[in-house]
Amino acid sequence: MAIEIKNNRFHIYNNEMSYVIEISEQDDLLNLYYGARIDAEDIRLPSRGHNIVCNAGDSNVLYSLSVLPQEYPSAGASDFRSPAYEIETDKGLHTPELKYKSHKIIDGKPPLEGLPAVYTENDNEAQTLIITMSDEAHGLEVRLYYTIFENLNVICRHSEVINISNPYMYLNNAQSVSIDFPAGEYEYIHLEGAWAREKHIDRNVVHKGTQGFESRRGASGHAENPFLMFFDKGSNEDYGNVYGISLVYSGNHRFIMEQEMYETVRVQAGINPFNFRFKLEKNESFVTPEAVMVYSSNGFSKMSNTFHKLYRTRLCRGKWRDKVRPILINNWEGTYFDFTKEKLLAIADEASKIGIELFVLDDGWFGRRNDDTSSLGDWFENKEKLGGTLAELANEMNKRGLKFGLWFEPEMASPDSDLYRAHPDWAISVSNVKPHLCRHQLILDYTREDVRDYIVNRITDILGSANIEYVKWDMNRNMSDVYSLNLPSDKQGEFYHKYILGLYDVLERITTAFPDVLFEGCASGGGRNDAGMLYYMPQNWTSDDTDAVERLYIQYGGSLVYPASTVGAHVSAVPNHQTGRISSLSMRGTVAMNGAFGYELDLSALGDNELNEMKKQVEFYKGIREIVMTGDYYRLLNPFTSRHSAWMYVSEDKKKAVVYYVVKEARPENEAVYLKLKGLDEKAKYTINGETKSGRTLMNYGIVIDSTEHDCDNMIFELQSM
Ligand code: DGJ
Repeated sequence: MAIEIKNNRFHIYNNEMSYVIEISEQDDLLNLYYGARIDAEDIRLPSRGHNIVCNAGDSNVLYSLSVLPQEYPSAGASDFRSPAYEIETDKGLHTPELKYKSHKIIDGKPPLEGLPAVYTENDNEAQTLIITMSDEAHGLEVRLYYTIFENLNVICRHSEVINISNPYMYLNNAQSVSIDFPAGEYEYIHLEGAWAREKHIDRNVVHKGTQGFESRRGASGHAENPFLMFFDKGSNEDYGNVYGISLVYSGNHRFIMEQEMYETVRVQAGINPFNFRFKLEKNESFVTPEAVMVYSSNGFSKMSNTFHKLYRTRLCRGKWRDKVRPILINNWEGTYFDFTKEKLLAIADEASKIGIELFVLDDGWFGRRNDDTSSLGDWFENKEKLGGTLAELANEMNKRGLKFGLWFEPEMASPDSDLYRAHPDWAISVSNVKPHLCRHQLILDYTREDVRDYIVNRITDILGSANIEYVKWDMNRNMSDVYSLNLPSDKQGEFYHKYILGLYDVLERITTAFPDVLFEGCASGGGRNDAGMLYYMPQNWTSDDTDAVERLYIQYGGSLVYPASTVGAHVSAVPNHQTGRISSLSMRGTVAMNGAFGYELDLSALGDNELNEMKKQVEFYKGIREIVMTGDYYRLLNPFTSRHSAWMYVSEDKKKAVVYYVVKEARPENEAVYLKLKGLDEKAKYTINGETKSGRTLMNYGIVIDSTEHDCDNMIFELQSM
């Protein structure tokens, strides 16, 4: 891996990948190439342009910013495509033009202050190029950061915009990344959805004009995950140039692709410029969130495995990063708000008998919360309902061999809460306007330090009061009535971002204070399943939809970018509470054993048969969870396009593998399935179901599944090389 500069060209490369930037004669920063490894000196830009294309005012009509590929394009300086940033100085100037000023190359990767980011553990894992661009007339500098990893095809990008000499200026847009891809035929995938239907794969052909997706919800959101796959048309799991861009950010985001008249495509990702206006006083700067770019020359699968490895080992942090996760029982779908100590202990008794390791007490343990209309913000245990203190309850769980975990929703206040009655100004709202409620609740103004301190103190008190070893951090509404009494009128445009910075501050303080606690993020399921949250919490509740068929889609889509170690997946009751579907316990178990596995139902209401089957599931999962957490992941059959689904995990040394196959929708007189495995050692012999087969047979011929199929049929094959 290296970053070199020769003949005004930066070559950012490792063994498999190159990214080339040129400083033009006019000192513009041109985006020459991104893809499989090349020799940087061998390439040249095509010439483009004619008299009606703007140029730099000289006679060289073939040099025009309106067509040249650029690294961080400016607005209004003759490039008419989407700008990477937009400013307005105190004098109203808003057509900056950045020119190369200087650069430096450092080993390792610097952190992004106050923001989550990928990190290195050793300086020789990565190198970072920092290019400074400037526009003296607009009193502006921009630093562009590029970190390349030695052993992973990853480039992390972000930028920093600095007001050098204006008394003040507004930053109205600041993207994390902008790339101009050459003319070509491209497609893209984004993960779209809704509450309880997150991360569905939507594949489209890139067409002329601007297309993309975004969030204006104050959170990354259920509807559009902050992740884009941009690829050569026709690419598939194993073939094609694929570029993944994942934003390490949990707030409003925007991803756009603009195909212009010469068919090049500008791809940008970053904070959504919607209602974004950041005031920078002289010498102040703004740091964008990080965009992680993964390149694969061999299709989707390699891209996913690169994201998985990077996020599992260099984004997630803390004690739980490298540990298998405890199998949990969560009482939410089992009891909702309607529980007593006796009920919880009855569930715990069964959980302990079947080998479950952690009991999670969900919503309803605090204030007077017996439904969702009250008490958010009143983080004091309800001793009457709990039949004692949290410490006593935790103790009871521990006596049964279970760890104890607790649910919080720390960003919210119910109008019917002591907190809101005492501090109505702490909730986000516009003065004199009745705020819009969502799930009967308001959002606390995390731009305020006093609010953040209060919440950190309350949670610290609770976590210190009992043996709590797991926290579920929930967030159940999106932002409306966005206004902060804490901010002057000319800084209201900073609110969305400052809220997220406030959230990150609170999470950093709490997770640092409780390094042994396992934190799981949640936002009505997957409403904030993003890379930003993974920096603080190494797992995420994937979706409120626990239906096994629905989970096939959700988990398959999410697997494009997020590793299984981050995926909360539970077996719940049938008929399923979200879909009414009845699927077999066996299928529910198979689908849930693909991440941080658990149960979410009233175990005390089940008969011996089901409990015995669950006991076997728990035992089985304990045997495979290491490989699920850390193995390479391969998608085999796509539930979006097939009536089956299949996927597998392979250990890093290729000695072990676990293969899953599920019939999503049975068909009579079905064809035989040749399930071709992936990622094995082709020369090795593997034992599978008592037989021995070579890696190459398993990958080229496959496993033949020729039984008559029924809904919910499912199989898990364990492979072990000899
Ligand atoms: C939404 C979460 O996604 C659920 O799992 C549960 O914790 C409820 N909130 C509790 O209100």
